[in-house]
Amino acid sequence: MKKITLFSLVAATVLFTACGEETKKVAAEVNKTAVVEAIKKDTVSAVEAAKIKAAEIAEAAKIEAEKIAATAAEKTKAAKVAAEVKAVDAAAAVKEKTVELTEAATNAVASVMPASSTAAPVAPEAYAKCVGCHGADGKTKALGKSSVIAGQDKAAIIDSMNAYKAGTKNVVGMGMLMKGQAASMSDAEIEAVAEYLSQL
Ligand code: HEC
Repeated sequence: MKKITLFSLVAATVLFTACGEETKKVAAEVNKTAVVEAIKKDTVSAVEAAKIKAAEIAEAAKIEAEKIAATAAEKTKAAKVAAEVKAVDAAAAVKEKTVELTEAATNAVASVMPASSTAAPVAPEAYAKCVGCHGADGKTKALGKSSVIAGQDKAAIIDSMNAYKAGTKNVVGMGMLMKGQAASMSDAEIEAVAEYLSQL
């Protein structure tokens, strides 16, 4: 009985030990699988994390690019608006200047016009010495004897003056007196005087 028991015990022990070996083996196997599984999992999650990270970076880059684009667009818009404002300002300035210049030109013309067109003809400087005898308006008979010289034909007056200058004209016996007047006069002065007298 004792022997059987002992045998059983040994057998059990052997069995147990064998079983233990097996269990260990199984356990090791399981462990290995678990490690592989874990590594696999880690790898997957690392890849997953990398993917997520890459997506995040891409998203961030996209947002940044959009921001830059928006800023650029805004700056362009602002520049455009500024340019438009400047153009409007310039146009207004030009308009203002044009009005000013037009006014100035109108005033200038107005200040010159009366003398040359509307008002009475202005006597040239050379006529000053004639006034005493022929009158400011040329309508006085010089020394009560000459003809009225105002309103005579311009060419006729020039002819008369040149004739007095040459000493060939003597209507009322006072040709020499007029020669003294005409002698020092230039052609231009004679023409100016003739032009003036013909307009009276
Ligand atoms: C001192 C007075 C006197 C002065 C100054 C004088 N004249 Fe005479 N003028 C006369 C007399 C007098 C006659 C007439 C002369 C003659 O016998 O032909 C005359 C004649 C004329 C005639 C010719 C008129 C005609 O149709 O027969 C003209 C033109 C004339 N004078 C222009 C002038 C001009 C221009 C001036 C100024 C540069 C001038 N005279 C200065 C006295 C003067």
